[in-house]
Amino acid sequence: MARRSGAAGGAALAGILLVASTLAVLMSRPTAALSDEELTLNATVGSGGGGGGKLAFDYHAVSCPHLVTIVRAYVQTAVRGDATITPGLLRIHFHDCFPQGCDASILLAGPSREWGPAGMPANANLNLRAMQLIERIRAHVHAVCGATVSCADITAVATSEAVYASGGPLYGVPLGQMDSFAPAHPRFIGTLPAPSTADVNRLHGAFCGKGLCDLADLVALSGAHTVGYAHCPAFQDRRQDDAFGQQLQMNCRRNPSWAQILDMFTPYRFDNGYFFAVFYGNGVLTSDMALRGDPRTAQLVRAYAGNQAAFFQQFARSMQKLSYAPKPQGNVGEIRRFSCFRSNNGRYGADIADVTVATADEVSAGATDNVVDVSAVADEGSAGATASA
Ligand code: HEM
Repeated sequence: MARRSGAAGGAALAGILLVASTLAVLMSRPTAALSDEELTLNATVGSGGGGGGKLAFDYHAVSCPHLVTIVRAYVQTAVRGDATITPGLLRIHFHDCFPQGCDASILLAGPSREWGPAGMPANANLNLRAMQLIERIRAHVHAVCGATVSCADITAVATSEAVYASGGPLYGVPLGQMDSFAPAHPRFIGTLPAPSTADVNRLHGAFCGKGLCDLADLVALSGAHTVGYAHCPAFQDRRQDDAFGQQLQMNCRRNPSWAQILDMFTPYRFDNGYFFAVFYGNGVLTSDMALRGDPRTAQLVRAYAGNQAAFFQQFARSMQKLSYAPKPQGNVGEIRRFSCFRSNNGRYGADIADVTVATADEVSAGATDNVVDVSAVADEGSAGATASA
């Protein structure tokens, strides 16, 4: 069972907190959208024989007019009871879209293939409760609208609603993504940037390969680390020549299952606290610290630390761009009609819909971890697996 704490280096940061809380009053919730022209330019997901086509913000306006209302109700309730849902959804959505476009392939993977230490390390520690929320929403949406909305679309809308419910910007999502027939190929999963990446040019290259070519995309999207945790293996290579790095190292030596808050100021609030942390040298991952070390990205880090509205606006824009991450085969696939965790032909799937995980109360009481070690789930089968990391 992992312990979690934001205490690392906390005392030294009391003064910064004061600045942070002063700037917090500047918070706003802009709605932002790409222009029609940009949407056309960015429509790289292509169209194909699986029924998919161009994405559109109002894709489900006729077939499922209450989609957003239904998703919002589920997400708001879930986030109120369990603050790990927002970071969980954000990371799932990013890890779904980045490798081969937003196609819910991440939900199809299954413990032995891609999740956790036994599979692709990049996908370790995904939040199982957030995944189950996506499936619960799908079941309700399909009961109301028929099987018209893909799991990829539900994941994207749920993520946007979770950001909003946690204090972040309200942004629309381009919809109409098809679900993949199979999990993503490891070759594509391997395009996810490694947390040990210290060179901004390499991070930028990885993002640019997905259509996120502005440095502002890299910096603003990294701002998602304003919520959630990282586990020791993710930052073991971080520089240790500063007090914060030494504190992290000590925590992990004491407890290798340690889960470190990424934004120690406001770990569950979607705000610009992450940029304060990075600005003052308290980024947890090497890739976070890299943004501080390169003058081009350091300038953006400083700008977002001082202007939350600017961060929100760029974040919304970059999240919309993420929806257009290239799909190598075009927007082909199916709408998973039985479960987001199972392809319609039953060939691929993971049995995680009914796995029991820690309750929100247990998590907030620190009684257990917020993520399930899915390799343990695989071992234990269906019901009864509790959280461990
Ligand atoms: C710049 C490249 C990025 C790298 C190298 C990176 C890497 C990581 C790593 C290693 C973790 C910790 C996993 C663990 O140990 O549990 C993490 C957590 C997280 N990442 Fe990223 N990430 C990047 C960009 C992003 C983006 C673009 C988003 C979303 C838009 C995102 C959202 C998150 C969230 C919300 C968490 C916390 C998850 C939780 O607490 O459940 N990351 N990331």
